[in-house]
Order: sequence, then C-alpha cells, then structure tokens
Amino acid sequence: MHKPILIIGACGQIGTELTFELRSKYGDENVIASDIREGGEALMQSGPFELLDATNYAAIEDVVMHYEIDEVYLMAAMLSATAEKFPMRAWNLNMNSLFNVLNLAKEKKISKVFWPSSIAVFGPNTPKQNTPQSTIMEPSTVYGISKQSGERWCEYYYKKYGVDVRSVRYPGLISWKTMPGGGTTDYAVEIYHEALKKGSYECFLDSDTELPMMYMDDAIRATVSLMDSPAEKIKVRSSYNLAGMNFTPKQMADSIAKHIPEFKISYAPDFRQEIADSWPSSIDDSAARKEWGWEPRFDLDQTTLEMLKNLKG
Ligand SMILES: NC(=O)c1ccc[n+]([C@@H]2O[C@H](COP(=O)([O-])OP(=O)(O)OC[C@H]3O[C@@H](n4cnc5c(N)ncnc54)[C@H](O)[C@@H]3O)[C@@H](O)[C@H]2O)c1
Repeated sequence: MHKPILIIGACGQIGTELTFELRSKYGDENVIASDIREGGEALMQSGPFELLDATNYAAIEDVVMHYEIDEVYLMAAMLSATAEKFPMRAWNLNMNSLFNVLNLAKEKKISKVFWPSSIAVFGPNTPKQNTPQSTIMEPSTVYGISKQSGERWCEYYYKKYGVDVRSVRYPGLISWKTMPGGGTTDYAVEIYHEALKKGSYECFLDSDTELPMMYMDDAIRATVSLMDSPAEKIKVRSSYNLAGMNFTPKQMADSIAKHIPEFKISYAPDFRQEIADSWPSSIDDSAARKEWGWEPRFDLDQTTLEMLKNLKG
C-alpha cells in the first residue's frame, strides 16, 4: 500500500484535480487534502481534509505526524497577476511554504516533495522560441522571482541534504472543474465560460500573444509520472521544462468558433500584457521527454472539445 500523501493548497485549480487523481490511484483515505479555505463540494466529500496554513511550520508538522505522511505536494502559492499587487505577501507565501516543506524533508519527517515552478521563471532576455531547459532567466515579475528562487533552493536541498524534491515548470493550465487562481493565462479558461454564456469574450491579452499552455489532464499526468519515476532518472532537481501546446488568443477564438460560429472576441490588454510579453512563446521540454518519458496528449482543438463538452454539462 502507498504511504499517506498530503496536498497543501488542495482547493485550487491544480490541487483539486490532483487530489481526485491521487485518491483514485492510492485510495481516498491515503490522500489528505489541505488548504487555508474549504474547497468545492465534490472535493470536500471525497476524503480527509484539514484546514492548514502553508506558512505555519508547526501546523504542517502536526498534520504530517498525525497521518504519518510520506509525500507532500505543495500547491499553495500566490499566482502571477495577484502577486504583482501584493509583492511582499506573495514572497512570504511562496518562499516560506517551500522552506517549511523542504525542511520537513531535510529532517526526514517526509521522504518526497513535489513543488511546481512555472514558465514565469523566464524573463524578457530569455530566448522566446523553444526556450531551452538551461538558459538566461532574469524573471521580471514578483511571482517569477519567487519561482526562480524556489528552484535554486530545491536544487540546493537536493545536493546538500539529499532531499528528494521534484518539480516541473507548468505552462498556463486550462481546466473546467475550478476557476483559475489569478494568473496571466486565466483568459484561456474564462474564454470558454464566456463563449457558452454570452457568445463573446473581451480578452485582457492582445490577439497575437503566443504563450505555452497545457490541458489539465496532461499536467496531472506529468505530475504523477514525475513522482512515480525512480529517483535516479530525475537528473534536473531545480525544475523541468514542460510543454503541451502554444497558441495566441486569436487562435483560441478560431478554435472555439469551429463549434460556436457566432463567437466574437475583442481585445483590451491590461497590466497582464506586460507579464505575458516577458514570458516564452514555446518551450523545449526534451529533458523531461528523455529522462522520464514525458509526452503531451492534448492540442488546442482537443482542449476546446473537452472544455465545451464538460462546461455544457
Ligand atoms: N494554474 C496555472 O496555470 C499554473 C501555472 C504554472 C504554475 N502553477 C503553480 O501551481 C501551483 C498551484 O496553482 P493553482 O493554479 O492551483 O493555484 P490556485 O490559486 O488555483 O490555488 C492555490 C491554492 O492555495 C491555497 N492557499 C493560498 N494561501 C495558502 C496558505 N497560506 N496555506 C494553504 N493554502 C493556501 C488557496 O486557497 C488555493 O486553493 C502554484 O504553485 C502555482 O504557482 C500554476
């Protein structure tokens, strides 16, 4: 039997679906969901839940000891757009939560950690097309700075203390079970909701802003596959580049219009345009493919099909 797992930040866009997946794989009682707030009804009823503040080391330690937790997935963070409004709160949450979990692993209270990074670690001086695994980073957002620092600390804890920490740089994630949590790629979820509700959408990014994106099922599969891989296969201990698809708001609107011909998109770029402009357009994920067998399954049109089908209910 798999040893118990704790998910911190389980009620968010990724945490919700990760909790369902890990519960179906390892058993409902074996996966403890936690968050600073309660989540959706389906999540709350699917297994054990603890109210937990990711910045409180003693509280996490209590839960870890109580349930004899072996692995922690740390999903709590402040995302890119919100972090620009609350820089110090973002830094405190994103860094202290990571230190708490890394230190629990350093003290051998848990044996494995998953912590997500992001394409936001890259900045305006990074090569934009097919961004390599190792390259100039220089992130220009609060969120990106916290993720890049987090990556450095993950690698440090692995090298100095032998902590088995694993990470991917998620692209923008598209899903229908929960709404996104304040990121720069949120448009790619909102657009489907508005297309079905109103037949139109005003996008906060320009028509030709190409960004790396991924359908949630691929992101969850990547996460589980990375965590299942034998430790010796995981050569990158900062964070792996991970790619699914790349597209612009215009291309996404065209994909929706194949199903809703009257769909109209308009553009009113706001402060998030500058963030998007500092990020890559496409990502080279060959290290993840080679070292632990990563392969995406969903392209834009398949994503549109899934999103419209599931949101229609
Ligand atoms: N969604 C994306 O497109 C995307 C892309 C790249 C990286 N990521 C990363 O993946 C992780 C999860 O992202 P998400 O999209 O699910 O975010 P989200 O905002 O949807 O969810 C984060 C969850 O953390 C919880 N939380 C906030 N403060 C907390 C605290 N102090 N203690 C405990 N829980 C707290 C929130 O209540 C929320 O449920 C984050 O690290 C994020 O940076 C997400």
